[in-house]
Formats: sequence, C-alpha cells, structure tokens
Amino acid sequence: MKQRGRFITLEGGEGVGKSTNLQWVVEWLKQQGLTVISSREPGGTPRAEAIRELLLDPAPVEPLSSDAELLLMFAARAQHLNEKILPALKQGAWVVCDRFTDATYAYQGGGRGINVERIATLERFVQHDLQPDLTLLLDMPAEAGAQRVASRLSQSGGERDRFEREQQAFFSAVRDAYLQRAQQAPQRFAVIDAEQSLEAVQASIECVLAERVPSWMR
Ligand code: TMP
Repeated sequence: MKQRGRFITLEGGEGVGKSTNLQWVVEWLKQQGLTVISSREPGGTPRAEAIRELLLDPAPVEPLSSDAELLLMFAARAQHLNEKILPALKQGAWVVCDRFTDATYAYQGGGRGINVERIATLERFVQHDLQPDLTLLLDMPAEAGAQRVASRLSQSGGERDRFEREQQAFFSAVRDAYLQRAQQAPQRFAVIDAEQSLEAVQASIECVLAERVPSWMR
C-alpha cells in the first residue's frame, strides 16, 4: 500500500506573500521527486470555490453574520477535504494548501470573536483527527501587510474583498490569534518572519523543509 502523503499549510494575515511562497514550496517538494498538488481555502474544488465567492463578495446587499461565515468556511472545507485533499493524501500525493483551519481560529476566532470551543467542535465534526503535518506561518505586523495589500490593489486596479475591507484592529487580532496558535502547537508550526526580503523568507522556509521533509520520505 502506498504511504500516505503529507499535508502542508501556509498561513498568515493579508499581504504576507503566501501565494508566491506557496509556489516556491511546491517547486521545492517536486524537486525532491514528490508528487505534489496545491490548493487553497476557502475553495479548492468547484463547489467550494462557489462558497468562496459568497464569503468574499463585498456587495452590500445584506450583511453576512459571523455564524453564517463560520459555517460556510467549514462547509467549503468539508467539500474540499472529501473531494480533493483526502483522496490525494491517500494516493500518496503531498498537498500544499494556502490556508486551512488555523485561518478559522485566526479570522473567525480572533477577528470576529467567536468562541474557540465552537470552532473546535466544527473542526472535529469536519476533520475528525486530520491536522496538517506542517504549518508555515508567514508573520508580519498587520500595518505592514495592509500596506502591501494597498500597493498590490493600486497596481492591479482590483477591488477589496469583504475581508480586506476590515479595520486594522481586526487584522491585529488575527495576527495575535495566529501567533497564539503557533505557541500552542510548536511542533507543527514554523513561524517565518515575512518582513524579510523574499530571498531571506525563502531561505528560512528552506531550512524548515530541509529539516523535516527527508524524514517523512523514508
Ligand atoms: P485569501 O485571500 O488568502 O485567499 O483568503 C481569503 C480570505 O478568507 C482571507 O481574507 C482570509 C479568509 N479566511 C477566513 O476568514 N477563514 C478561513 O477559515 C479561511 C480559510 C480564510
């Protein structure tokens, strides 16, 4: 029977450079001869991407309640897990995902103030005992991330999504919650200083991968 693949997640606030570094991690793993797929949350499958649209849509038709937001995050996750992540891991592929449940603890827990126990209940319901094998937390002060988002949007001419419209206090609470999660599970998390140059960030990520990945390939 094939060995189960490993599950690696990238986390962090807005503007920390997850997408660029995710691609870099995928390429690094492929160079080790591994079969790798990348994905993202909320989303990752057609139906989960449809839920993502609902979650990110800033249209002021009607506010989205915090509970509805939380449940939609987990609805998208249940679909993504069952249709994509679990089958891939079972076939021996490694999955690298842009955000997962730590984002729910950070945004819905830290940002929206939802009780952690409610999140943990949904986590158990949807994931059973599945946890990422490694989580790379790209960390920077919320103000620095906000500046990066602003300059990206002014270059692309894009619109802010529903989360990007939140205030600074929301993003500071998100950051604090992420750092707290990392402290609670130090063996799973690697906290990377994302304010460094891209080369330095990638060198830090490479150190973490070089330390952990070979032992998982045996
Ligand atoms: P992205 O822009 O990094 O793709 O993520 C979309 C937004 O969704 C981002 O602002 C964070 C938010 N989010 C949550 O609030 N909770 C979650 O569980 C996840 C996965 C994302």
